[in-house]
Amino acid sequence: MSTSRPPFRAAIIGTGAIAHAHANALRELPDRAQLVAVVDVDQSRATAFAEQFSVPAVYTDAADLLAAERLDLVHICTPPKTHVPLAIAAMRAGVPALVEKPPALSLRELDELAVVEEETGVPMLTVFQHRYGDGAVRLRRLVGSGALGRPLVATCETLWYRDDGYFDVPWRGRWEVEGGGPTMGHGIHQFDLLLSILGPWSLVTAMAARQSRPTDTEDVSMAIARFENGALATVVNSIVSPRQSSRLRFDFEHATVELEHVYGYRNEDWRFTPVAGHEELAELWTRDAVDDESGHLVQLQAIFDAFESGEEPGVSLADARRTMEFAAATYASAFRGLPVAAGDLSGDDPFTRSMDGGAVPWPRLKEPVG
Ligand SMILES: NC(=O)c1ccc[n+]([C@@H]2O[C@H](COP(=O)([O-])OP(=O)(O)OC[C@H]3O[C@@H](n4cnc5c(N)ncnc54)[C@H](O)[C@@H]3O)[C@@H](O)[C@H]2O)c1
Repeated sequence: MSTSRPPFRAAIIGTGAIAHAHANALRELPDRAQLVAVVDVDQSRATAFAEQFSVPAVYTDAADLLAAERLDLVHICTPPKTHVPLAIAAMRAGVPALVEKPPALSLRELDELAVVEEETGVPMLTVFQHRYGDGAVRLRRLVGSGALGRPLVATCETLWYRDDGYFDVPWRGRWEVEGGGPTMGHGIHQFDLLLSILGPWSLVTAMAARQSRPTDTEDVSMAIARFENGALATVVNSIVSPRQSSRLRFDFEHATVELEHVYGYRNEDWRFTPVAGHEELAELWTRDAVDDESGHLVQLQAIFDAFESGEEPGVSLADARRTMEFAAATYASAFRGLPVAAGDLSGDDPFTRSMDGGAVPWPRLKEPVG
């Protein structure tokens, strides 16, 4: 979308690993956005990052940033435990927050965010960049048109590998700081995409285990889910799988649609197989293809488009909640040994307060941190 307005003024809080994807995406959009400031509690990291991306202002405290700068968007790229307080501070300062996944540690924290969003009228958005690749956009459109028939079966696998050393970083592998293991931190991308295609789920039955890693959280979970539209899906989230793969497969009445990638996809990573007698669907599938790669850049473009048009930008808090509820249901079912229906986790249920629900069946390995 072309624009004559001045570029949006963006800042990044947390200049670690994923902040580079945000800054690179902003750099790709010089006419639409300017990265005007960065914050990190580690000043030398923030300064080096600012030099790399030619950012004029550096802070070590987000409160100072929000008091001093006029901003249109703040990217929150810090460890999960800090997401909610930083997003609330941004919204209270009148600045929309784009928060890395997971947006919060619990459903209760999402409730707190919703209250502040309602009070301030300032949106909070979550990074789920794989919703925005061209294949996903076209698949949602095709599903919405009804051309593929009913969705019947789906599989969703995040089979990734993280070695023991990955968990040396103090915020990783702990419920109270990271919120969970691969369900909350890794597979969440794939099942967010699954949910964006299949819509609301109605029932989840799951198992989780700590197979091998030095964590308090799970290192693998598996769920079977029923959706309101009747589809059945399996969802696997693992970080102990040496040949890494992210796979989604949808069997509709009239076609199978598959995606295989690892951390981001292009159109060549999709495969479309129509049922005999529905060959015309293959042309419909490729019509209007533009091959946007899934990633931070396409999600940011969609956000700026929405800011300019006045439409609601995705991924809204309500969108993110559906995905977080699926994560909470996976944990609750796994640790209680019972199916969880949509809406079951409400009120004072322990699984609304934390993803572990105080019910993890294996012993702690790590010292609690504040
Ligand atoms: N969307 C994706 O594909 C993707 C990929 C990787 C990580 N992530 C998410 O991004 C977030 C950050 O992950 P990472 O791997 O970049 O972590 P990281 O540890 O590399 O970087 C986090 C940075 O935040 C800084 N920080 C911590 N608390 C702060 C505070 N209160 N104010 C300012 N700075 C603070 C740290 O000093 C550090 O530099 C996590 O939520 C993670 O799940 C998302």
